[in-house]
Amino acid sequence: MVLPRPFLKWAGGKQQLLPALLEAVPAAYGRYLEPFIGGGALFFALAQRPLVHSAVLGDANAELVTTYQVVRGDLGRLVRRLRRLERAYLGNDADGRAAFYYEMRALSPRDPLGIAARFIFLNKTCYNGLYRVNSRGLFNVPHGRYRAPRIVDEEVLGAASRALAPAEIACRDFEATSAEAGAGDFVYFDPPFHPLSVTSSFTQYTSASFGWADQERLRACIDGLTARGVHVLLSDSPHPRIVELYEDGGYELRRVPARRAINSKGGGRGAIDELLVSNAPLLEGRRGISRRASRPRPPRPRLDSGAGAAPATEAPRRPSGPPR
Ligand SMILES: C[S@@+](CC[C@H](N)C(=O)[O-])C[C@H]1O[C@@H](n2cnc3c(N)ncnc32)[C@H](O)[C@@H]1O
Repeated sequence: MVLPRPFLKWAGGKQQLLPALLEAVPAAYGRYLEPFIGGGALFFALAQRPLVHSAVLGDANAELVTTYQVVRGDLGRLVRRLRRLERAYLGNDADGRAAFYYEMRALSPRDPLGIAARFIFLNKTCYNGLYRVNSRGLFNVPHGRYRAPRIVDEEVLGAASRALAPAEIACRDFEATSAEAGAGDFVYFDPPFHPLSVTSSFTQYTSASFGWADQERLRACIDGLTARGVHVLLSDSPHPRIVELYEDGGYELRRVPARRAINSKGGGRGAIDELLVSNAPLLEGRRGISRRASRPRPPRPRLDSGAGAAPATEAPRRPSGPPR
């Protein structure tokens, strides 16, 4: 049987970073919460273990969330709909496939099944699996021109559906998902990557971009969770401003190498570090204080491999595929 894994390609997906993330997951926790679910790399990896009893997932992308809900609750009809789309698309020559893609892209289905089928179809056939919308919130990624894209993989969708069965998933801002966490729960945050340079500003998963005020809101939210005894792990850009945001709060900061899966040029997919921030020392400090008043203060934040240094300029992550 296929193990649960992401059923979508997702910009900023954390498949490459999984070993480092899994190492940073607490040994025991109550519920698992992921407020920026995207492709859900860590959620699906954890669903392979008996550790996840129940999960609360969220994302601000309404079509993405509807797609998860349909994969969880209406898989049979979704697979049949995708099979029909796959047959119709692959039965065309190259020009016919492009025309079919742009027709699908122009549709705005209202029913959940139609939204999910279109979303998965576009994800598998668009340029590089990117999700990008214009200022009116309309998906605007060009056609991908793959020779034989796998539009429906029933086994992967089935495994994802089973993994999602005990999960609650809603379209909402990260603060609303985090508000559900209680002492002993574990929240993993993977917000849109704070751009390392002005030319690498791919953060447009929704019509509202994730700006500096949102990064500050996230830090305040993580402080609140820490005060409530919730385990927190954050993966973010190693940009000096992000490092500065967390470095004197007692958090543990670690810089880990990660390969970007989606970039503007295939050849430019190099190593770009990712910053991991954990509140483990602070929770340990809180437990210690309640057990032994004389416990030493939590250690100062540790930042491996010099994250304070200015990072190398990243290549633009916008698609450079065929313009429409
Ligand atoms: C880097 S991606 C997450 C990738 C995911 N960890 C994975 O493995 O595929 C960031 C996600 O945050 C979502 N997002 C952006 N702004 C948000 C907000 N204010 N609240 C919740 N989700 C948001 C985007 O739609 C996107 O799916």
